[in-house]
Amino acid sequence: MKHENDVLIHNPLKPSKCPHIKVIHIFTCLMKGFLAICLVASLSLVSFSSFSNKTRWLKYCADCDNRFIHSWRNFNTQQDHPEKTNLSHVLFGIGGSTETWNERRQYSDIWWQPNVSRGYVWLEQAPIEPWPETSPPFKVSEDTSRFQYTCWYGSRSAIRIARIVKESFELGLTNVRWFVLGDDDTIFFPDNLLTVLQKYDHNEMYYIGGVSESVEQDVVHTYTMAYGGGGFAISYPLAEQLVRILDACIDRYASVYGSDQKIGGCMSEIGIPLTKELGFHQMDVRGNPYGILAAHPMAPLVSLHHLDSMQPLFPEMSRIESAKKLTEAYKLDPSRALQHTFCYDLAKNWSISIAWGYSIQLYPTILTPQDLQTPLQTFLSWRTWSQEPFTFNTRTMSLEPCERPIIYFFEGGAELGHHRTLTSYKRPNPSSHKQCDRDDYSAALSIRMFNVKASIMDPQVWQKAPRRQCCEIISGEDDGVVQVNMRDCNQWETVTPP
Ligand SMILES: *[C@@H]1O[C@H](CO)[C@@H](O)[C@H](O)[C@H]1NC(C)=O
Ligand SMILES: *[C@@H]1O[C@H](CO)[C@@H](O)[C@H](O)[C@H]1NC(C)=O
Ligand SMILES: *[C@@H]1O[C@H](CO)[C@@H](O)[C@H](O)[C@H]1NC(C)=O
Repeated sequence: MKHENDVLIHNPLKPSKCPHIKVIHIFTCLMKGFLAICLVASLSLVSFSSFSNKTRWLKYCADCDNRFIHSWRNFNTQQDHPEKTNLSHVLFGIGGSTETWNERRQYSDIWWQPNVSRGYVWLEQAPIEPWPETSPPFKVSEDTSRFQYTCWYGSRSAIRIARIVKESFELGLTNVRWFVLGDDDTIFFPDNLLTVLQKYDHNEMYYIGGVSESVEQDVVHTYTMAYGGGGFAISYPLAEQLVRILDACIDRYASVYGSDQKIGGCMSEIGIPLTKELGFHQMDVRGNPYGILAAHPMAPLVSLHHLDSMQPLFPEMSRIESAKKLTEAYKLDPSRALQHTFCYDLAKNWSISIAWGYSIQLYPTILTPQDLQTPLQTFLSWRTWSQEPFTFNTRTMSLEPCERPIIYFFEGGAELGHHRTLTSYKRPNPSSHKQCDRDDYSAALSIRMFNVKASIMDPQVWQKAPRRQCCEIISGEDDGVVQVNMRDCNQWETVTPP
């Protein structure tokens, strides 16, 4: 940032062509530079101290050099907000309940950094037991009995949860750029949340999140709102507008089920659309979420919800243990967590699909990249437990062992130095399930482990156009272990089946 300011201050010098290395010239240049800086400073002063607005100033300066005006304006915005958005700029608001906190706290304890993260869990009443130090501090929500709620299958607590953003705003805390709302069973990945928020100007009105994976949910609750469990972010200026109308909105949208839809209603009154970011996961699915995580879209992993109602993310582990396991990989390389890549072993006709930090699938056949990037359907829809439809394509997870991939799960990882990591993936203990005894499968089944090397991904890549990385198999199986490298694709490189 500092660097950019320097460039901007020096811009006015450009026309005077400084590079001639003569002492006298340098002196004149310095003088010119000094004058230019003075000019910038005095113009800023003039415009700040007068009541004239920007347009009038621009009119007055109609004859000025345009490039100069441009630099001057940039210079001011940079000065106002010189710092990149960091965790101290985010105020979390978590919808909690005193009754269930003792169980649910395990989820926020995974991602909450005491005395670093800012925010509160909002409760319906003060807890009796001492509040754990590892948990976000709590606040007791205001009384909501004066509001209307007419959704027959819902709960009035939706009103209280909807008002968290307002009560958080009214705390008047300083230096808040974003209000991030979530449930008590939401896990955030804070580094990636920041990577996503850094894409947007917090001085503008943004409403950022995701919709439900289950179409039936989106049909009932709308496609235009951010689903609360997946978490969503509201920029400060938007929150400022929202809190002015929120209480009235809550009564106007008395018939809708959830807090998030009431907020969605307000947003449509303000006229701010949902900015969809693919890393927010409401996880409105039943059964095993494996397919979704093993084919994550090309976006940073921001949140996961409903861990309590789905099967654990890893086999032979509890829900909490498996969430911690995934977080272990995330901490090693936040930007790369779950990033999907695939490659072929053309000597063997194998397809290998990697979800970094989570799972590897080995197919002893060649699948097209289009198939490989499509989630295996290991889950059902949220409301009716149906096979379809979802807001993305899925492919069938066959019951026939010869049509299923051989699956490996993240076991552990380490930093190698030189900004590189090594992660290992192992096949769970052979289950009692029938295994495919075809020849090509038995060769593949001899692989018990994958080692994946990758460089630590620079979060800056997410500010650019996304592209899936390439992978290559470095050595064949050695004692049943395959070594794979993940890297940027070379020029003209594609994942093209033979
Ligand atoms: C975050 O940004 C603020 C400026 O708004 C700065 O004072 C603070 O040191 C930064 N915190 C971290 C952890 O970088
Ligand atoms: C947080 O800060 C408070 C006060 O500074 C301190 O007493 C407490 O031990 C800290 N908690 C943690 C978990 O670091
Ligand atoms: C790979 O598949 C191709 C095309 O189906 C076939 O010609 C080739 O023999 C196969 N190679 C191996 C090692 O199975």
